[in-house]
Amino acid sequence: MPMRGWLAPFVYLSSNWISLIGVVLTTTGGLLWLILLPSMIRGSARDPYLGILQFMVLPAIFFAGLALIPLGIWSYKKRNRGALPEVFPPLDLSNPRFRRLLAFIAVTTLANIVIGAQFTYRAMHYMETVSFCGQTCHTVMKPEFTAYQNSPHSRVACVECHIGAGANWFVKSKISGSWQVVSVAFNLYPRPIPTPIENLRPARETCEVCHWPQKYGGDAIRVRSSFTDDEQTKELKTVLLLHIGGGNGYRGIHGAHMGPGVEIRYAHSDPRRTKIPWVEYSRGNERRIYMAEGYSSDSPGSLPVRVMECIDCHTRPSHSFDLPERAIDKALLANEVDRSLPFVRKAALEVMKQDYKTEAEALAEVPRRFIAYYEKNHPAVMSSKRAAVESSAKAVLAAFSRNVFPDMNVKWGYYINNIGHTDFDGCFRCHDERGATAGDRTITQDCDTCHKILAQEEESPKVLADLGLAQTAGKQ
Ligand code: HEC
Ligand code: HEC
Ligand code: HEC
Ligand code: HEC
Ligand code: HEC
Repeated sequence: MPMRGWLAPFVYLSSNWISLIGVVLTTTGGLLWLILLPSMIRGSARDPYLGILQFMVLPAIFFAGLALIPLGIWSYKKRNRGALPEVFPPLDLSNPRFRRLLAFIAVTTLANIVIGAQFTYRAMHYMETVSFCGQTCHTVMKPEFTAYQNSPHSRVACVECHIGAGANWFVKSKISGSWQVVSVAFNLYPRPIPTPIENLRPARETCEVCHWPQKYGGDAIRVRSSFTDDEQTKELKTVLLLHIGGGNGYRGIHGAHMGPGVEIRYAHSDPRRTKIPWVEYSRGNERRIYMAEGYSSDSPGSLPVRVMECIDCHTRPSHSFDLPERAIDKALLANEVDRSLPFVRKAALEVMKQDYKTEAEALAEVPRRFIAYYEKNHPAVMSSKRAAVESSAKAVLAAFSRNVFPDMNVKWGYYINNIGHTDFDGCFRCHDERGATAGDRTITQDCDTCHKILAQEEESPKVLADLGLAQTAGKQ
């Protein structure tokens, strides 16, 4: 038989240890790959990191095996130059060399598959967990993991937003996920992890599994508390009636951008999408273009264009970091930092805003410096309220550590939150009264369009008393 005749030298020559290991690796890798294939095609969000195995580990084993086979043949030939038979023994079961080879491959491959399947099963279960995503690469994911734990999504698995359902994104995420594993293993990852994530799956496909912006919304009351820097800090409340919208067609914030048939596209001139010179609104036959002041072309030119969706506003649905003022206000609101200490907000901000080179330094220095402030400037307070100063110092450190990660180079304000316009430009990136190329519409900055300001920085807003919320407000 010509085929067997052709294979005979190959089998003979590859009966060396290097090639044999190669053959076994290739068959094991290939077979495991095939066994896993059905679950890959179903590709639910539940077993995402199975893909690291499927797309990285198994192919690596397979190709490493393939490479070993010729390598073995080559070195075997080299070692046995002159000693090779003229005619290679035929490939049938009477050939002991061939029998040995078959038995060897069968036994080792079987053993490998049994071990490999066990390993895969356990690895799979582990890799789909939040703890794998959030904690395995501890330093790398620490900022996001910490913020996530303090977010309304702390019970939503990372993969629900980052991968979602369906084979297509599953595979894409595997490919980039594999690179991430490599970059962590070899310490190649950027610090901080850059944002926005290029090629994040369109959020409407992931968020709308749980949220349907057309469904709810309407108007909602938001009470935001802030504190003063006075010697005796005071709580001030801002009360907004926010027109979230959605349930009522095109009204409100969600309706305006996400209503049926609405598409807003925008061009950004910086990678972080903070500068938006060109915006196009379309809905049915309506189409308008808005250009920022100083931008004269009515086309986006070579700038990258995005279709606006959830995360253009909700940049931080799950990893929300605060600016120092908000962070300390939250701690004061929760009474974790003692409001009665003199100049407590100022003192806290002073230490929180300093530069700490490492996490270890911050851990030691933030509380030490806070306490030192009272020792130096208010010794009487220090002796009468030592416990309060010390527990406040811990809370100041906690507020700091939720937001600043020196080891990852994450400083105050690196991760932008685009909801609102007071901490970052947010809505005002577009809502700056720029006019349309035709007609007299603008992207409005009218203060009553998005919310009605029912009270602004008042100690006891009348509206809260009217609503019967005076006691509980702010403690949300
Ligand atoms: C509710 C959805 C959601 C969940 C749950 C979620 N993320 Fe994210 N994550 C996002 C969005 C949206 C962005 C990117 C925003 C952007 O590109 O501007 C992001 C960004 C990131 C980034 C890039 C850096 C940054 O902050 O922009 C990392 C890293 C990350 N997430 C890790 C995780 C990990 C680890 C978990 C689980 C512990 C997790 N995420 C859970 C929605 C989510
Ligand atoms: C697996 C389900 C799930 C997914 C996916 C999901 N969320 Fe949520 N989301 C929730 C739950 C649960 C809550 C908490 C509801 C509550 O506490 O009242 C929530 C709350 C929110 C809130 C309200 C936050 C607050 O401060 O009260 C926003 C905004 C939000 N999600 C946006 C998003 C965005 C944007 C995405 C996509 C990037 C997303 N969610 C993906 C389940 C999900
Ligand atoms: C134009 C900006 C914008 C876009 C686009 C947007 N949202 Fe929102 N969304 C907001 C604002 C502003 C709020 C109110 C924030 C607050 O609670 O203070 C909000 C609130 C929410 C809430 C909480 C609602 C509640 O009643 O508390 C959810 C959930 C939500 N958005 C989901 C989504 C999803 C899912 C998408 C994408 C389909 C989306 N949003 C797109 C601006 C936006
Ligand atoms: C990418 C640009 C862009 C961003 C960012 C943006 N918007 Fe808009 N917004 C628009 C455009 C375009 C319109 C529609 C203008 C028109 O009708 O031609 C609009 C309309 C609105 C309207 C309806 C206005 C009216 O006259 O009825 C509201 C409310 C609104 N936006 C709220 C927000 C809020 C809140 C945010 C931030 C969370 C935000 N927008 C962020 C582009 C943007
Ligand atoms: C395009 C929509 C939009 C417009 C226009 C707008 N705002 Fe806002 N504003 C928001 C959103 C969204 C928030 C965030 C609400 C929240 O905290 O959840 C906000 C928050 C605020 C806050 C509360 C800040 C805090 O302490 O958290 C104040 C005060 C405020 N706006 C004042 C104004 C004033 C004054 C104007 C007119 C110049 C204005 N806004 C115009 C969308 C808008």
